[in-house]
Amino acid sequence: MRRTDVHDAAYAVVSGGIGFVPAPPGCLTATETALEELVRLGRLRREDGIAEETWGYAPDHKGQYDRGLSQYREDERKDTFHYEPATYEILESKGAPVHAWTKFFRAQDESWRLLYSLADELMQEFDRLLPDCGIYDSFKGYGLRHPNRGIVYERRTGADRETAYPHCDRGFISLHHSETGPGFFIVPKDSKMRLRIHIPKGHIGIFPGLKCQKMTNGLVSAIVHGTYEVPVREPNGRRASVFFAHTTISHL
Ligand SMILES: [Fe+2]
Repeated sequence: MRRTDVHDAAYAVVSGGIGFVPAPPGCLTATETALEELVRLGRLRREDGIAEETWGYAPDHKGQYDRGLSQYREDERKDTFHYEPATYEILESKGAPVHAWTKFFRAQDESWRLLYSLADELMQEFDRLLPDCGIYDSFKGYGLRHPNRGIVYERRTGADRETAYPHCDRGFISLHHSETGPGFFIVPKDSKMRLRIHIPKGHIGIFPGLKCQKMTNGLVSAIVHGTYEVPVREPNGRRASVFFAHTTISHL
C-alpha cells in the first residue's frame, strides 16, 4: 500500500472524518467469494441442514455467537460470519464439517490476511500521528483475533430498507471493505441526520470505533453509522463485509 494513501486515511480519521484507501489487489474477489458461500451456508441453516452450535463460538452478552456463524434472528433476517485465523480449527474441533467448505475458508483466509496487513500499516500510522496513546503496541497485543465480518441480508420487505440501525463499532477502527450497494450512512456528531457516504468503487472506508475514542481520551469520536439496502443494486438482499481492528483495552 502506498504510504501516502495510508497516511491520508489515518489523518482523515484523527481529524474526525472517514478515510479511504484503495483495496489491496485480490481482496474484493476473495470477499465476494466468501459472501457467496455464506449465502449458501445461511440457506442450509434455514433448511435445518447444519447444527448452529457447531458453527458458532464465543457467545456475546446477547447470546449471539460473536465468532463463526451467528444465530439467525427472525427480526434481523441476516446471516453473519466472523472469521479469524483460528476459526477453521475451532469449528473443526466442535464437529462442523469444515472440510466440505474449503472454498469458503480459503476465501475467508485470503480476505483476512490482506486486511490484517492493511490494518497493521494503518495502526502504525495512527501511532505516528498520536504517539502517546500506545496504539500500535496495543494492536499487536491483540494477536490475530481481529474479526472479519461477512454479512448477508435477506431481501428487505415493504418500506423496511434499513439493514443496520445507527450504532458505533467496538473496535479501534473498522475497515468497511465490501458492499453490494452504496447503503452506508453516518450520523454526524450533534445531529440526527443520516448522511449517505458513497465509498468509491475499489476503495475501503476507514472509520473509528469506541476503542479509538477511549484510547485518544475523546479526541477522536467513534462514528455513529448504519446501512440501508439499495433495492436497484441489491435485488436479492444486501451483502457487506467489515474488518475490525482491535486493541487490547475494553471498549467500555
Ligand atoms: Fe458497524
